[in-house]
Amino acid sequence: MKKVKKAVIPAAGLGTRVLPATKALPKEMLNIVDKPSLQYIVEELVESGITDIVIVTGRNKNSIEDHFDYSFEIEETLKNSKKDELLNKISHISTMANIYYVRQNKPLGLGHAILKAKSFIGDEPFLIALGDDIIYNPEKAVSKQLIEKYEKYGKSVIGCQEVPEEDVSKYGIVEIKQQLDDRTCEINDFVEKPNKEDAPSKMACLGRYLLSPKIFNFLENATAGKGGEIQLTDSILEMLKSGEDVLAYNFDGKRYDIGNKIGLLKANIEFGLRNEETKDELKEYLKTL
Ligand code: G1P
Repeated sequence: MKKVKKAVIPAAGLGTRVLPATKALPKEMLNIVDKPSLQYIVEELVESGITDIVIVTGRNKNSIEDHFDYSFEIEETLKNSKKDELLNKISHISTMANIYYVRQNKPLGLGHAILKAKSFIGDEPFLIALGDDIIYNPEKAVSKQLIEKYEKYGKSVIGCQEVPEEDVSKYGIVEIKQQLDDRTCEINDFVEKPNKEDAPSKMACLGRYLLSPKIFNFLENATAGKGGEIQLTDSILEMLKSGEDVLAYNFDGKRYDIGNKIGLLKANIEFGLRNEETKDELKEYLKTL
């Protein structure tokens, strides 16, 4: 079995739900306490054993490349002023993984963005981590959990959690075929953003996938689906129909949808309450409101 070493982060979206903050700043660079949200995703992947990451970007995304690059001015200044702790924090950003970039060119959907990573991935199983979904689990990163399930069953795995019925229309929803262990099941359908009347369950894909490279055969032949976009969900379903098993894994972790204002605020408050530097003062402040 091939080890999972590569990952794709699609980051070409326009971030319309958090405008005007995203007018000149990529939504992946929006701050959560003291780091852009994309750094949380990259750190999760690195903690899970990923060494090579391709970020699929678009226009207006140069600050992403700058963030993960070596910063001579900042690092020299910190070195000279002997701020070693901060210096380590900063130099870690540009050294933790090999990061590559490809542009999506046209905003044709998530499936189209993933297809851009085809030659980078080659013939290996790989992870996809969506930047809108930050998942907190200090014991075991969610991508690591998916990798363990892949290593156990040798099949593609979609990271899911149950969502309230009124929210099923926001997500890709799986239909469960049979349970393999207390958190993992085989699926026999995967529907992009169904109405609640048509949803096969409440198990929603929440932004983490570990896929066989066979997915590219289906993405190459994909046509527009929901919303006129090339949907990753549809190609995963085609792969499933071709006889390739796909598992849904009910991951352990707290997920924040930071693609919208309220999710971003919740993430800032909760990560702020976990951060050594800010937690006490923030707690006191919240009590005064
Ligand atoms: C995408 C996927 C959807 C998935 C969701 C997770 O939708 O298409 O299947 O459930 O991410 O956050 P988006 O939120 O980009 O519209």
